[in-house]
Formats: sequence, structure tokens, C-alpha cells
Amino acid sequence: MLSQPYGSGNMTAMDLYESLTSQGELVRTLKTEKAVKADIDAAVKLLLKLKADYKQVTGQDYKAGCPPLESTVLEDTGPAAAVDGEDMVDPWNVSTTSAKGVDYDKLIVRFGSSKVDQELVDRIERVSGKKPHRFLRRGIFFSHRDMHQVLDAYEKNKSFYLYTGRGPSSEAMHVGHLIPFIFTKWLQDTFDIPLVIQLTDDEKYLWKDLSLEDCHRYAVENAKDIIACGFDVNKTFIFSDLDYMGASPDFYRNVVKIQKHVTFNQVKGIFGFGDSDCIGKIAFPAIQAAPSFSNSFPQIFKGRKDIQCLIPCAIDQDPYFRMTRDVAPRIGYPKPALLHSTFFPALQGAQTKMSASDANSSIFLTDTPKQIKNKVNKHAFSGGKDTIEEHRKYGGNPDVDVSFMYLTFFLEDDEQLDKIRQDYASGALLTGELKKRLIDTLQPMITAHQERRKQVTEEMVLKFMTPRPLDFNF
Ligand code: TYM
Repeated sequence: MLSQPYGSGNMTAMDLYESLTSQGELVRTLKTEKAVKADIDAAVKLLLKLKADYKQVTGQDYKAGCPPLESTVLEDTGPAAAVDGEDMVDPWNVSTTSAKGVDYDKLIVRFGSSKVDQELVDRIERVSGKKPHRFLRRGIFFSHRDMHQVLDAYEKNKSFYLYTGRGPSSEAMHVGHLIPFIFTKWLQDTFDIPLVIQLTDDEKYLWKDLSLEDCHRYAVENAKDIIACGFDVNKTFIFSDLDYMGASPDFYRNVVKIQKHVTFNQVKGIFGFGDSDCIGKIAFPAIQAAPSFSNSFPQIFKGRKDIQCLIPCAIDQDPYFRMTRDVAPRIGYPKPALLHSTFFPALQGAQTKMSASDANSSIFLTDTPKQIKNKVNKHAFSGGKDTIEEHRKYGGNPDVDVSFMYLTFFLEDDEQLDKIRQDYASGALLTGELKKRLIDTLQPMITAHQERRKQVTEEMVLKFMTPRPLDFNF
């Protein structure tokens, strides 16, 4: 099977030929303009890789001006389709046939990221002097890119900044959406660093059947839920693309730079875009990439382009940042580092993630205590046995039980969680009792969130969303 720099889509030999031609042009331009050596080397490396791929596919050496026969087609592993035909993970789809959920170890190998192992968790504890967040202790943030580099620099007093985001497709966010924001808040408090949050109202307009006005309104409504997670207004900038793209020349300059250095073939390979996708979608990845570069925010970083960015998100967003990391050295910027989380599963089971488009699969931040109770009791997939007698005798399976999975995200006490696991597996704890533990954990958590959200005023939103300096000296 062909290994490609960007994953693949239905890339033909002709696509590869065109990529090679434009990459050759890029190398020539970099050399003529006497660009920095690292950029030239990176561009040459990619050129050689494309040449090797081209030879593998066509059986011939690439020759400028001699396109291949039209019929040669690359094998399609697809940006999301699994090599083994099992798990599907991309920004729009998450699915697996396994009741235990996505095989995250395989995903690390497929995406080429690194495992968050015990050594890294211990190092975060040593460097920060804080007990690692339960999401780190329990392998929920399970994968990373360049986290050791971020810590190396931090130990030498070099600061970094956080970037995360949300695509505002509706007024109500669900509990799964909270995962990256809860963790981002912990990172901000722990390392005392600036944070930028992108609300991609433009993305949702391009992908969904929504008006621009609705997408922008959802962005502002979602900002309230994000603010309710407890972010410090003096350290956080939240922006809607529809507002900030027009207001910040520096941001837009970076978008254009990225757009110039990524070809249609490349985004086709990464995201699976087709000929009938609107051109807005094809250009959009550059907009999600741009906040990874510090000079997109001159008001915060005083025009510096060398501040390292760290992006916490679920692993579905990784395709955007594989592209970003690829393009970064070619435009003279540091690659963003990443911390990836697993998915908060749908109520019906870990075969898919909790998704806002299916109301019964999700617990929303607007749900009442009664709705939470009903949804958990009615829909949460159980790893218990059919009868109480069988359950007492054989025990339940916490590895496929959605209530137990949810508790691993939200129950703070490690010992309690371990006891629940053991009791459920031994049959001492029944499914109804496990569900009650979850309901008792979720109800106060969501009610407290709703209380904090009520305190968020329009003025506060405006302040978070106004481009301004933050409390840091760069
Ligand atoms: P969106 O709105 O789909 O999701 C927002 C964030 O929530 C994560 N997420 C989940 N995490 C755990 N379990 C789930 N079930 C679950 N569903 C969603 C997503 O990974 C994401 O981190 N295009 C993006 C918006 C965006 C962004 C970013 C996200 C712009 N820039 C930078 C992360 C980092 C989107 O539509 O996210």
C-alpha cells in the first residue's frame, strides 16, 4: 500500500504528478529566494517522498512535462477509513464495530502521533508541580505531538500558548464538548499561559444548512458555555471567525500564506473533499490552521511568530493539524504541539462519539436533572447481565458499560472509581445502582454549569471576544 504524506483520498497518479510539479516549483522558489536551510530541506524531503510514491504507483520515474497515463489510481485508504477496515475517525465521522470503542493504540500508529505514557504524565507533574488531571491519569488524553519539546522549552522559561476551538452548529453543547475545555482550563491554570479559542461559525455555515446569522448567534451562545467553564478573562481571547477574519489583517495574512502552500490534492487527500464540494470547504482548513501561529494575534504576542502553540482537542480534529504541522516549516513558523483526547461515547455505546445531531445520544448542557435521569436510565448502554441472578453470579462488563465510561471522565476519586469497577465486575454492584452513581454525579455537575452560565453577562462575552492585550509580557 502506498504511504502518502497526507493520508489519501482517491488520489490518481495524475494528482501525484501535479503535487510533484508544484512541489518542484516550491523548492526552486525557496532556493532562488535563499530561504532558510531548514525550509529548503523540508521541501526537498517532501519532494523526494512524492517521487518515491510516484514511482511506486506508476512503476516509472517522474519526468517534468511527461504526465502519467490517466488510468493509474492510488489505492484509497481514505483520510478516515481505517487501514484494517474497522475504525473511522475524522472531523465528521467517528465509528467502530467494537463495543469498547475506537482502538486508540492503532489510531496512534495510523496517525503517526505518540502515546501519552506514564513517563510523560510524571514529567508533566514534575515540571508543573501539580497532580496530573484525571484525564491524564486515566489515559483520556492519550496521544500527543511534541509535548516533550513544549516541556523542554518551558523548563528553560520559554512560555507557550494554548489554542482550542468549537464549531457552533447549535445553541446547545453536549457533555462531550466539555472535555477539551475542562482540560484546557486545567492546562491554563497549571502553566499560567494565554489561551485563544476559535469559534468556527464560518465552518458551520459552509458545512450545514444554516444561515450566517444563526451560525454567528450560536458562536456567541456557545461562548457563554465556554466561559462558564471558568476561563480567566485576562488570559483568554475567544473569537468568531466571521468577526475576527475581517478585523485582523495579520490573521488573514496567515490564512493566505497557508492557502498558498497547500494544494487541492493535499486537502483532498487529508479531508476527502470531492469535485462537488464548495470551494469554501476546500479553503477552510487554512482558517483552522492559522491560530496555531502566534503572529495571528499581534495584540497578544506583539507580532512575535516564534511562540510555541499547544492544541488540546479530541483526536477527530487531528487532520487539520497534520496539515498545519506540515505547512508550518515551509512558511517559517514553529509546528504546533498537540494533546489528543479519546471520545466521550454516545449513550447507546462506544461505537460512536456523543454527537449533537442525535438528541438521544447526548446529554446536553441544557438538560434538566429529570432529563438526565431519564436519558441515562433509558439509553445508557449497559454491560450488565440480563437478570439480577445472572449479574450477581457472573458480574458485569465495565469495559463496554457507558455509565462506567462516563464515570471515568467525571468521578474525581481514583479509589472510588476503582471500587465501582471491581464491584460491577464481580456482580456486587447492579446496573441500576451504577446508573444511579452516574446520575448523582452528572446532575449536580450540569446544574452547577447552568448556574455559572447564568452569571455570564453580555458584557463579559463582549470582553472575552474583544481583540486586546492579555496579562502577559511577550
Ligand atoms: P466541535 O465543535 O465538533 O468540537 C469541539 C471540541 O470538542 C471535541 N469533541 C469531543 N471531545 C470528546 N468527546 C466527544 N464526543 C467530542 N465531540 C467533540 C472536538 O474534538 C473539539 O476539540 N472544527 C472544530 C472547531 C475548532 C477546533 C479548533 C477544535 C476550530 N479550531 C482547534 C479544536 C482545536 C469543531 O467543529 O469542533
